[in-house]
Amino acid sequence: MCGVVGYIGPRQAAAILLDGLRRMEYRGYDSAGIAVLNGTGVKVHKAAGKLANLEREVSDNLPSGTVGIGHTRWATHGAPNTPNAHPHTDQSGRIALIHNGIIENAGAIRKALLQRGHTFTSETDTEVLAHLVGELYQGDLEEAVAAALREVDGAYGIAVISSDEPDLLVAARNGSPLIVGIGENERFVASDASPLLEHTRSVVYLDDGEMVILTRDGYRVRDLEVKDIDKPVNQIDWDLATIERGGFEHFMLKEICEQPESLANTLRGHLLEEEGTARVSGLNMTDDELVAVERIIITACGTSWHSALIGEYMIEELARVPVEVEYASEFRYRNPVVNERTLVIGISQSGETADTLAALREARRRGARTIGLVNVVGSTIAREVDGGTYLHAGPEVGVASTKAFTSQVAALALLTLRLGRLRNLSILQGRQFIQALTALPAQIEQILAKTDEVKVLAERFFTGNHALYLGRGVNFPAALEGALKLKEISYIHAEGYPAAEMKHGPIALIDENMPVVFIAPRDAVHSKIVSNIEEVKARGGKVLAICSEDDSEIERLADATFTIPQTLDLLTPILAIVPLQLLSYYVAVRRGCNVDQPRNLAKSVTVE
Ligand code: G6P
Repeated sequence: MCGVVGYIGPRQAAAILLDGLRRMEYRGYDSAGIAVLNGTGVKVHKAAGKLANLEREVSDNLPSGTVGIGHTRWATHGAPNTPNAHPHTDQSGRIALIHNGIIENAGAIRKALLQRGHTFTSETDTEVLAHLVGELYQGDLEEAVAAALREVDGAYGIAVISSDEPDLLVAARNGSPLIVGIGENERFVASDASPLLEHTRSVVYLDDGEMVILTRDGYRVRDLEVKDIDKPVNQIDWDLATIERGGFEHFMLKEICEQPESLANTLRGHLLEEEGTARVSGLNMTDDELVAVERIIITACGTSWHSALIGEYMIEELARVPVEVEYASEFRYRNPVVNERTLVIGISQSGETADTLAALREARRRGARTIGLVNVVGSTIAREVDGGTYLHAGPEVGVASTKAFTSQVAALALLTLRLGRLRNLSILQGRQFIQALTALPAQIEQILAKTDEVKVLAERFFTGNHALYLGRGVNFPAALEGALKLKEISYIHAEGYPAAEMKHGPIALIDENMPVVFIAPRDAVHSKIVSNIEEVKARGGKVLAICSEDDSEIERLADATFTIPQTLDLLTPILAIVPLQLLSYYVAVRRGCNVDQPRNLAKSVTVE
């Protein structure tokens, strides 16, 4: 989703901005632009498509100046073309503005501005906001921005500069993330930390309703009225190396291969083997409070929603607390039954997904206690929930989530242990679960060692434009996630289904051209899934089975198998998903797709 970056300092801004945009490419975008104050006015450059187009446009003629803003746009209002790209200027052309979010009353404001003689060059809500700031400008940019934002409904993370005030950069946030970076005689603002890391580790996280006024040697945070706000300075501990590709061809492959380590990091320090339980101190809940929880709702989007479904199986099975899983976008607009004995868990890699954030706010408003399982430290969800735990999976840059997924399932396993041991789970069951969790990183290593096998399977099976993924029990969500990975990055239409439900529809699709991926480890429903494989084979379908070692029955039935090590039934998705991630990766590479930045998708969806 849109990336905002701004710079004010002693150095040339354009190169810093382009570099920052490059680091935010992973968020997903379809056009880009920069604006720099060049001593006489605002110099704007924009281009549709990838950043390389913008770089080509400015390469001979990099605008000079030490204050500027840059933007990658993910289209909402208006097509992804050059006129709609940001920055947008006001009527005078002296103020430039970039924006992540959606201004909901832009239509009405635009109409009023048109009546007052404004003319627009784009279809965007952002240009409307730029014009509004310009109209309200009376020699004080800070006040003009505050006044304009008081008239605006919707979500925004904006940065604004004016050639009339060349020593100032103003930014504001409501609903879309913004971080301020504090360097030596220089200040930055950005949608996330990735453009800041090579310049500074000292950051200030802005909250909704806050504005920041940046100068070369200072900054001030205030609300939209007149009140100044004291904000703590935080230190980021991710370093640049961890967000770079480190020899891998794509971030996605790097992140798949990092899973032994990322998973170990999620578990580190939480497992109490002797007592057969987990320590999750960040929950900020006493044992009594945890025992008093009568119901759990887990809410999330995308891949995180799939891990939530796995959490439902784990928590109900081992902790015996009723769990519902809801798409955050649905939860937020329903009238959900929630009270102070309901625990609402939000799962989010980015911690910024607009729907998940809104769902958690709604749950809180209704009296529920909220906790977050979040990867990005300092993100909005992490800061707003009552408690939770960080995944510590490290930065995930590939748009298609991989290591965050396995870490989310591991974090849910920790929560399951904690809740379970306060209820019916015996110490021996707890210890057994811990031993199985501890073995997972090495078991993932074993799977990764067979990457070449997956490459061959990718060649052999995915030659058409459709695929079906089937699983039962806790591997049904794994099938959903496997299918999502394939469609996200290879654009092959793939569906995930509970294997037995296949008879109620998808079976009609099965013929020799339809690859069917079964997740069929040796577990409690093994014999049932064998029957489902028979059903597919009887109709001429091509079966690729992810199964346990030495499963002669499945080897006999399936056209090909990929084996995974044995673990507890509830933990099999963590192992089964790894070959499925690799499979979609190699299919996408073979089809020449942009693996790390698939078309139309965004890493962090900060609009609803
Ligand atoms: C986007 C990403 C997905 C991600 C989903 C939820 O759609 O492309 O990979 O699963 O958002 O994101 P979150 O950051 O809340 O986990």
